[in-house]
Amino acid sequence: MEQLVQQIEDHRREIAAAEAATPEAVEEFRIRYLGTKGLVKNIMAEMKQVPNERKKEFGQVLNDFKLFVENKYETLKENLSGQQAADTVSIDWSLPGNPVPVGTRHPLNIVRNQIVSIFRRLGFAVAEGPEIEDDWHNFGAMNLPEDHPARDMQDTFYIHQNPSWLLRTHTSSVQARVMESQKPPIRVICPGRVYRNETISARAHCFFHQVEGLYIDENVSFADLKQTLYFFVQEMFGKNVKVRFRPSYFPFTEPSAEMDISCLICGGSGCNICKHTGWVEILGSGMVHPNVLENFGIDSNRYTGFAFGMGVERITQLKYQVNDLRLYSQNDVRFLKQFTGVVG
Ligand code: PHE
Repeated sequence: MEQLVQQIEDHRREIAAAEAATPEAVEEFRIRYLGTKGLVKNIMAEMKQVPNERKKEFGQVLNDFKLFVENKYETLKENLSGQQAADTVSIDWSLPGNPVPVGTRHPLNIVRNQIVSIFRRLGFAVAEGPEIEDDWHNFGAMNLPEDHPARDMQDTFYIHQNPSWLLRTHTSSVQARVMESQKPPIRVICPGRVYRNETISARAHCFFHQVEGLYIDENVSFADLKQTLYFFVQEMFGKNVKVRFRPSYFPFTEPSAEMDISCLICGGSGCNICKHTGWVEILGSGMVHPNVLENFGIDSNRYTGFAFGMGVERITQLKYQVNDLRLYSQNDVRFLKQFTGVVG
């Protein structure tokens, strides 16, 4: 019997240390110690081996042990439901969550991405270049020599350290870098920020964004230019928008044309946005000047090309009716959040 009492003592220690973190574990405890084939029942069965005169004493020990196990079982159960109750008190699952503020792409990036994806579908690759340029890539190579009056239209910011460094006035400088490093056929679009020395107003800023394009190959004609830009306008603004070309002048293209689209606000009947003409200008374009091709060792008798350039702010203004350029750089969330969810 001494041996049995010793065994019970050992079990008691083991049970005292038992823990149960889940309802399954509590049930396991019950089956193992209090079940019909559990430990308590097994030890009770040992009663018959105990000599009669000591049965009473052993019965006492057994009863004690049984109570101890039952108490432990109750404690485990209570701890568990206490835990669950604590959970329900600290978290009210029915409350709405704290909203996570969702950012949005900047409208200019949305529209730039839209423009880029239209031209990519036509096989144009994206090319990028530095915003701090040298005189040659921005002006010289583009057929704008130092004393050329057309430079006045693109006055910019110069850098003290080196008078031939400047902030690029158009992404034509990237086209120059592409022609410098690649052989025709060339088919690139150049998105990026450009700078002009202008007084800031609702209609002008000292920087803006462009997407320019360049296509050079054998037999590229003005018809290709027109068809490419028609396609762009229809994809960007819809099938009902009309297009017209007006003769213009750029030193790097010949012939040159500015392209207008029928006013999206009034549909062509005349309003403030189109200055009552029914048309709004959206880009400059033309056939690449032979001098430009020759500047990069491209044989202008064999190759021809077209180029175009548009302002992203302008396209965004027309597409989303933004009437003040300054809104794009003021970072006012009341303006920016209106573009949440716009794909681009
Ligand atoms: N580079 C011109 C500008 O910034 C736009 C342009 C590009 C015009 C290509 C014609 C051809 O004004």
